[in-house]
Amino acid sequence: MFKGELVVEYKLGLNINNLKDNEPVPANAGGKDFAVVKVEGKLHVLDGICTHQGGPLGEGHIDNNELICPWHAGAYNIDTGKADENTHWVTDINVYKARVDSTTGEIYVEF
Ligand code: FES
Repeated sequence: MFKGELVVEYKLGLNINNLKDNEPVPANAGGKDFAVVKVEGKLHVLDGICTHQGGPLGEGHIDNNELICPWHAGAYNIDTGKADENTHWVTDINVYKARVDSTTGEIYVEF
């Protein structure tokens, strides 16, 4: 659905009630891949493809407020998408605004 001039909201096909804390899952919407994770009850939607060699970030894990790539452990801050300077082989990724339908629990992403 259109929400503004250039921002479109997409249904991610995930329900907040099925997400487990600290367990990222992959999603695809509008032709883009995402990594979706709930940490301490807060929802995070980030780019799903690692900037290093394309690892699937939705299959990574969470460590100390960072999303860790499953292939070579590149680390991204889950709030900002900023690459950890200790994993210099990756660069920053995007984070996205997400909305949860309070009635159904369905997750929507804007981009
Ligand atoms: S593909 Fe993600 S760190 Fe290498």
